[in-house]
Amino acid sequence: MQLIHTVASLRETLATEPRPAFVPTMGNLHEGHLELVREAARHGRPVVVSVFVNRLQFLPHEDFDQYPRTLARDSDLLRSVGATHVFAPDEAELYPEPQTYKVSPPPALADILEGEFRPGFFTGVCTVVMKLFQCVQPALAVFGQKDYQQLQVVRGMVRQFALPIDIVGLPTTRAADGLALSSRNGYLSAEERTRAPQLRATLQRLALEARTPLPLAQSEAAARVALTATGWAPDYLTVRRRSDLLPPTDAERLGGTPLVALGAARLGRTRLIDNLEL
Ligand code: PAF
Repeated sequence: MQLIHTVASLRETLATEPRPAFVPTMGNLHEGHLELVREAARHGRPVVVSVFVNRLQFLPHEDFDQYPRTLARDSDLLRSVGATHVFAPDEAELYPEPQTYKVSPPPALADILEGEFRPGFFTGVCTVVMKLFQCVQPALAVFGQKDYQQLQVVRGMVRQFALPIDIVGLPTTRAADGLALSSRNGYLSAEERTRAPQLRATLQRLALEARTPLPLAQSEAAARVALTATGWAPDYLTVRRRSDLLPPTDAERLGGTPLVALGAARLGRTRLIDNLEL
């Protein structure tokens, strides 16, 4: 496995290889990331994993500075699951000048849910993913469904820019108690960690109610009250159509249209997200 820090040496190394399978990450890897890399390795191509904490997708008050940088450990893990190249540029390499050209996804998709609470987040994501795609030129790229809206936004970008890249979405990897694996779980105290599965449990109840005649707004409000009562601060707990992440009509909800329950909430200083298809 090769550890590469510059765009020039990445391009030079990949020039003689088949187009790779690609997994973009911000490092601080956990089993969920390793599952994405294992999937990438199943396609019989070189496997490039990027490790880059992308300042563009963090708001000023968010955890960009404290986000753990663990490249040595990440590299060992990546070697063990079949990565062939780790691309770990520093900021000056990927953003040698202020990144004033950006990819702005459509507000109807990108300014709701995560985008409402993290304005500009998906512009930051799309801009870095587009740039990484240009550097890596992959045949396919693997993303986790835990970041459900991100996956949707990236799929739309690839479609609208006619990028010749297959986007593969993988189900969320969970701990034994159901908590979705996330780099940010490491911020939880031991006591918070025991309560962290409550987010998923709340989404499970909401998902069940969403297929009943109870008004959806009432179920969503009850979910918020229940989670808040256990010490969380929810940003959103909602049920949306899978196709466009907009609210379903009652007929769609009761008629079996594919839906997804999505939630984001803070437990102490840690903001967690999760989702559940129904
Ligand atoms: O999902 C992530 O870790 C990031 O948003 C990504 C796709 C690596 C872009 O920085």
